[in-house]
Amino acid sequence: MLKRTVNCGQLRLVDKDKRVILAGWVRSSRDHGGLIFFDLRDREGITQLVFNPEKFPDAHKLAQTVRSEWVVAIEGVVEPRGEGLENPKLATGQIEVAVEKLEILNTAKTPPFEIDTAEKTGEEVRLQYRYIDLRRPAMQEKLKVRHRVTKIARDYLDSLGFWEIETPMLGKSTPEGARDFLVPSRLVPGTFYALPQSPQLFKQILMVSGTDKYFQIVRCFRDEDPRADRQAEFTQIDVEMSFVEADDVIKVHEVLVAKIFNEVLGLNIKTPIRRMTYKEAQDDYGIDRPDLRFDMKLKDVSDIASKSTFKVFTSAIQSGGIVKGLCAPGGGNKYSRNDVEKTLTSFAADYGAKGLAWFKAKNENGKMTLVSNLSKFFSPEQLEEMANRFGAKDGDLVLLVAADEKGVNKALAPLRCKIAKELKLYDESKFEFVWIVDFPLFEWNADEKRYDSMHHPFTAPIPADIPKLETDPGHIIAQAYDIVVNGSEIGGGSVRIHRPEMQAKVFDLLNITREQAQLRFGFFLRALEHGAPPHGGIALGLDRMIMLLTGTDNIRDVIAFPKTQRGQCLLTDAPSEVEQKQLDELNLRTQKHSHELADKAEEQKPKHS
Ligand code: AMO
Repeated sequence: MLKRTVNCGQLRLVDKDKRVILAGWVRSSRDHGGLIFFDLRDREGITQLVFNPEKFPDAHKLAQTVRSEWVVAIEGVVEPRGEGLENPKLATGQIEVAVEKLEILNTAKTPPFEIDTAEKTGEEVRLQYRYIDLRRPAMQEKLKVRHRVTKIARDYLDSLGFWEIETPMLGKSTPEGARDFLVPSRLVPGTFYALPQSPQLFKQILMVSGTDKYFQIVRCFRDEDPRADRQAEFTQIDVEMSFVEADDVIKVHEVLVAKIFNEVLGLNIKTPIRRMTYKEAQDDYGIDRPDLRFDMKLKDVSDIASKSTFKVFTSAIQSGGIVKGLCAPGGGNKYSRNDVEKTLTSFAADYGAKGLAWFKAKNENGKMTLVSNLSKFFSPEQLEEMANRFGAKDGDLVLLVAADEKGVNKALAPLRCKIAKELKLYDESKFEFVWIVDFPLFEWNADEKRYDSMHHPFTAPIPADIPKLETDPGHIIAQAYDIVVNGSEIGGGSVRIHRPEMQAKVFDLLNITREQAQLRFGFFLRALEHGAPPHGGIALGLDRMIMLLTGTDNIRDVIAFPKTQRGQCLLTDAPSEVEQKQLDELNLRTQKHSHELADKAEEQKPKHS
């Protein structure tokens, strides 16, 4: 076999006259009545090969039989391309290799889709033939970026004294708020392992073990419906540190994130990254992961709306709600009345808004006012005050939603992003980082009449709020932090509770009884009783970070072998049925199997005539 000496992305003009051996896939071949040209591809690039029938007839003859995606190796000499034949789009575009020897290493079936135009092929087919999809340079680039990011993280964390420690995949349920994937035990029939939703409890126990600084690039499993930025199986850069405060964790990780964005994209991310409280994020952007590439802050106008005669607003406010909205710069010119009343309103309705009130901003004799079919419910002073609250300019569009605060934010936050995108209010290549801090520790769950943890139950309150665990749990601030980029949460963590009494108290507030707590977390509470140091940590979502770094909004693009929306791997056809023998060994019976048995029993019953 010809053993390659260079890769397909490597050769330049300076390599002229060099004898080289290349190996790869034939991207395309062109027979120019005499000369045959191949584009040879490997993960590093593409090199043009030329076969000359006069000089090397054997190689040329063999070349005539080769089809696209065949695997070949060649030996030849680097030559400059003829005048005007250079390809500036290729790194190797100034040279070609004159082939003397061709070896066919393997043939290939006609690919189910053209690699160069794969984007036009349905994702299902691409996932089914993932190995061909991954041959695309854009996909190889994503795999490469992913490798580089994990390498940067490993080297950086290692340099700070972190140890990479593996934690079990077969474990006990950890509460990250999603459904567990369960694995039945063969040796202890009727019992199940849970795949980790995160290594949360193990990494905390490692702190009790004295390992001090832990990290792991780790797979997490959450049985929830996949979304554009969510997979059931995803990867975290997971970290835990002892004897630290929130600031220490934040500082280590903002430097890591800046380093990653710098080394991969050449960006200079200034540290410290700005911080914003949860309240500020909710008030100004309606969400705890604001996209700060554009301004367009939300404004509460309940005080003005309550003085209007518009029933929808006044009655929403009377029943404890608010009226809040946004002002889309130039939106009055961009959106027609029909756009607003159909498209934007139905978009907001998808997020729960019962309606969307709209006004066009107008400069009337030097004063700003708002014009709409609702203007009649407001005095001129009220309209002016509202326009000023938003800083509205002539031609802007003001959109308002009335509901309870949560409902208003739920509709306005995505509306704000949609409008900003449509009005091209920001530079898509920009990255805006922010730490969201001062989260509430708990969220009231009205349906179940109990508190839920905002992050997870192991998050510590700020010291000043510890007494509120007894008196006012709803107003406790947590020592938690999320890192957000362009509206995407790429990481989150907290300082943990390290005292068993406080952990038990939090379980009480979450309505987890002492017995349940013992059953689910007894091992963990016991560990806290054996000298747990103060500790804290974070997990960065690796997949989401790679999405941002490679400019895709589809998480499946950054995972070599992802699952579909239905949680299927189309390449291997998982999940799939298993043999009865396997189920028997596990002492399991599926519902389908039970039905079959029941049907069989029914058939075997003596028939009464
Ligand atoms: P959390 O649940 O916030 O925290 O997860 C941390 C980060 O992981 C990413 N992420 C996901 N990415 C893709 N698909 C998913 N289904 C998915 N779920 C989460 C997000 C998120 O910010 N144990 C805690 C961390 C800690 O407290 O140290 C945890 O798992 O980017």
